[in-house]
Amino acid sequence: MSRKKIALIGGGQIGGVLAQHIAQKELGDVVLFDIVEDMPQGKTLDIAEASRIDGFDVKLSGTNDYKDIAGSDLVIITAGLPRKPGMSRDDLLSTNAKIMKSVAEAVKTNAPNAIVIIISNPLDAMVTLFQKVSGFPHNRVIGQAGVLDSSRFSTFIAWELEVSVKDVNAMVLGGHGDTMVPLTRYANVNGVPVLEMLERKYKDASKAKEVMDAMVERTKMAGGEVVKLLKTGSAFYSPASAAVEMAAAIIKNEKRLLPTCAFLNNEYGVKGYYVGVPVVLGEKGAERIIEVSLNEEEQAALDKSVTAVKSLVEDMERLGF
Ligand code: APR
Repeated sequence: MSRKKIALIGGGQIGGVLAQHIAQKELGDVVLFDIVEDMPQGKTLDIAEASRIDGFDVKLSGTNDYKDIAGSDLVIITAGLPRKPGMSRDDLLSTNAKIMKSVAEAVKTNAPNAIVIIISNPLDAMVTLFQKVSGFPHNRVIGQAGVLDSSRFSTFIAWELEVSVKDVNAMVLGGHGDTMVPLTRYANVNGVPVLEMLERKYKDASKAKEVMDAMVERTKMAGGEVVKLLKTGSAFYSPASAAVEMAAAIIKNEKRLLPTCAFLNNEYGVKGYYVGVPVVLGEKGAERIIEVSLNEEEQAALDKSVTAVKSLVEDMERLGF
């Protein structure tokens, strides 16, 4: 079986960590593209020189020429500017839309059969734009946000309940912005509802709710919390890990059920927009959208998040994209 080829567009903070993880997991040969001369070549050389120690055997190369991504099975895009302290993801819109348009044209020309995972922010708009410019089928264009947001939520739950994070299952739906929707009712520790565990811990339902609400708030603001501490740039270890989980699901045809920014065609009452929902990921990309029943409050929160995504897409269209 020939090895898969994975192109990473953007060789910055996330791109570098992505290349290292993908190599260490031997998911495929890696081509790291960036417009900055020599930098992707330097990073991939550095990672390759650890191959004897880490024990991986894949090819890694850096490039400034899109022709080198030809034949890629998977493309992961991080090209674009990250946030500065005080900025929202949406503040990146016009700069990153311009970059994403050029990336989409290049991927369309050079890797027309690839499945594409987008990480660049503002995520929901960037995925929408890439699909529009490339014309790729919707199942082959998806965004990474929910896996990371859910991991952040799970981490806070594990800390609060003093249990292993490995046993925590918690999902975040909606757009990748302040309106994202952590599903508290479905959050569980190996099947035991988190809300019930909190109620037992605090012996007080309202205190339990207060603690849950605080974890939800921290999840929504988690990206900003990291930006504020880093002072330059935004989170990069965790977004890279999240995208690698999605990449592995696709490359190995695992049929993982992961929260993914995917195109909705009447699911959740939404038509024609990219929104974060549970998706089965396999060799065809987003293979199936999974609907979960939402109560009134959850549906209202999701509707609010979809409204935010719509207005972001409208802003982008107004800018001429
Ligand atoms: N084509 C390809 N790469 C580009 C282009 C372009 N037109 N413009 C910029 N880049 C590259 C930059 O040279 C840089 O190396 O994109 C890379 C981005 O890397 P970082 O600035 O380190 O940003 P990173 O932390 O990796 O985040 C990238 O992901 O999570 C989002 O909000 C984040 O939008 C940001 C993106």
